[in-house]
This record gives sequence, structure tokens and C-alpha cells, in this order.
Amino acid sequence: MNVKIIDSAEEIAKIVSDRIISLVKEKPDCILGLATGSTPLQTYQKVIEKAKKQNVSFLKVRTFNLDEYLDNPIKEQSYRYFMDENLFDKIDIKKENTHFPPFENPAAYDEEILSCGGIDLQILGIGRDGHIAFNEPGTPFDSMTHIASLDEKTIKDNSRFFESIDQVPKKAVTMGLATIMKAKEIILIATGKNKAEAIYKMTQGLDTKTPASILNKHNNTTVYIDNDIRKEIESWKQ
Ligand code: GLP
Repeated sequence: MNVKIIDSAEEIAKIVSDRIISLVKEKPDCILGLATGSTPLQTYQKVIEKAKKQNVSFLKVRTFNLDEYLDNPIKEQSYRYFMDENLFDKIDIKKENTHFPPFENPAAYDEEILSCGGIDLQILGIGRDGHIAFNEPGTPFDSMTHIASLDEKTIKDNSRFFESIDQVPKKAVTMGLATIMKAKEIILIATGKNKAEAIYKMTQGLDTKTPASILNKHNNTTVYIDNDIRKEIESWKQ
């Protein structure tokens, strides 16, 4: 796991969008693992711009998203909706090539990913409690795609997207930690000082209390953090 400190969230979005675009150019039928949340938004915006400018086609690209809410009554809050709005509807990807984990028989998702040849590049954000996808603290490192319960902290954090906290779904279907670890390359993005604690903990070695720490064992993972996180961590040492 390689941690890189970059000046700003905007710079990180430039680097990560360049990596996505260059992969699609090199391998037009590549498999992308995608994340939702506010963190990757700028990256997706730049992917849309660069795909247009450089005439890069996503026609043969297949995507597998990390997770989806369960029992979510508000369509506009679904991760499918988020991805359509913020990426898929703005590039030439075929909708049938964009996948979300199924509510029934979640383990079939792992088989589907495998049968496509595996994820070439997985994009990740991180929760304040160190979760990746919806793998909350305590999730076994060998977990495959499964139904997960959201922690109180995560429900509270995600309530900013809803009208009230009661609307936030309590469960989700999520790739497991072992599913994520099978990706050939992983990029985790973390920006803003409220992610400092999670980043600090994940760099302290393997611990199931910090699910993202599993990435210490992956041999092609880059973690991009901004200066706000660096400054926050340094301030604790003074
Ligand atoms: C959710 C998602 C995660 C995401 C996290 C952080 O819980 N399931 O995949 O990384 O939120 O979101 P944000 O980027 O908005 O801080």
C-alpha cells in the first residue's frame, strides 16, 4: 500500500481520472470497480470531461459498483441513481454493462466479477469509521459480497443526503473485503480532515476494527490523501 499526499482534492481528481482514462485507452474492455459518495464525484466529473475531449469510448467497459442500499424507498438516494446521474448517463457506456450487487444471492456477484476476468481497477472512498464499501468495523477480512447492517456513525454521516435520519436505510448489499482485495489495482481517495482518524488507523497495520486496513496486504494499492488530512495527523503529534 502506497500512500501519496497531494495538495488538494482537485489535484487528486485529476490524477485518478487520468488513471481511469489511460486504462480505458490501453484496455477498452476493462473492468472497473466503482464507488459512490461525495469523494469520487470530482473524479467522475473529470472522467466525463476527458472522455469527451479525448474521444475515449466506454462502449466495451464493464463496471461493478461496490454497494447498494436495501429497503430504500427513495429512488433518488439509490446508488444506481447516483451513478447514472454522475457518470453513466454522461459517457457512452452501455447500461447493461453496469452492475450493482444483487439483493438475492449476493455471492453470485463474486462469481460474475470472476467470470468477467476480475476487476482491473477498483476506486474506493473511506468512511469515518474506516469502512470501505459497506464493510463496517468487525467485518471479517475473508468476507465476500453480502448483506450488511450499517453502523450508527455511518447512518448519521449518510443522513446528510436525506431529508431526515429516519429515511436512511439500515442495511445494504456490499462487496466483501475479500471481493475488493481481488482487484488487480486499487485506488483509495480520502479528502478532508474528518477522514484523518480513519486514514491514520488504516496505516497502523491489520485490524478488523478498521476494515480499510486490509489494504495493507494488497500489492497494488495507492491511497491518495490531501494536505488537510496530513496537517490534521501532524497536529496530533505536536
Ligand atoms: C458510504 C459508501 C462508501 C463511501 C463512504 C464515504 O458509506 N458506502 O463507499 O466510501 O460512504 O462517503 P463520502 O465519500 O461521501 O465521505
